[in-house]
Amino acid sequence: MKVLMVCLGNICRSPLAEGILKKHLEKRGLDWTVDSAGIGAWHAGDLPHHSSRQVAKAHGVDISEQRGRQVRRSDFTEFDHILAMDSENLADLQRLAPEPGQQAKIQLILSHLEGESLRDVSDPYGRTLEHFEAVFQLLDRACQAFLEKQGGASVSVHP
Ligand code: 4NP
Repeated sequence: MKVLMVCLGNICRSPLAEGILKKHLEKRGLDWTVDSAGIGAWHAGDLPHHSSRQVAKAHGVDISEQRGRQVRRSDFTEFDHILAMDSENLADLQRLAPEPGQQAKIQLILSHLEGESLRDVSDPYGRTLEHFEAVFQLLDRACQAFLEKQGGASVSVHP
C-alpha cells in the first residue's frame, strides 16, 4: 500500500500525518510506503516546521529526516491513497489529477474518522504550540482509523 499525505506547505500538517502513520505501521509490523507533499512549492527542501517537530518528538515520532516537496503528476499514478488535510487541498488535488479515474484515491483524511464532525484539519501555521498539539491528536486518531479500515489493525504474519 502506498499513501501520500497532502497539505498546503508540506511543513506543518502532512509531515505529522506521514510520521504518525509510519509509527502505527511500524507498531503493526506493516511495510507500506508513506510520503507527504504540498500543493505549493514554497517549502521544497525544507525541514518540517519546528513546532511540528517538537510535538512529534514529544510523542516519540521523529520527523526530522523529512524534507518538503511539491505534489507532482506521478503521485497520482504511484500512490493508492492521497489523503488531503483540508477541503482546499482536496479541491486542488482534484483539479491537478491528470485522469478522472484517479479522483477516487483522493480523500479528506478526516473522512476516515467515523463520527467526527470536523471535515478539515485546520492549518496551525503561525499559531501556538497548542494548535500543533491538537493537530497531532486529531491526525493520530485519523491515521489509526484509516489503518483499521485498510485491514491493517493486525500484525503482519509474513516471515
Ligand atoms: P501546512 O501549513 O500546509 O500544514 O504545511 C502551511 C505552511 C506554510 C504555508 C502555508 C501553510 N505557507 O504559506 O508558507
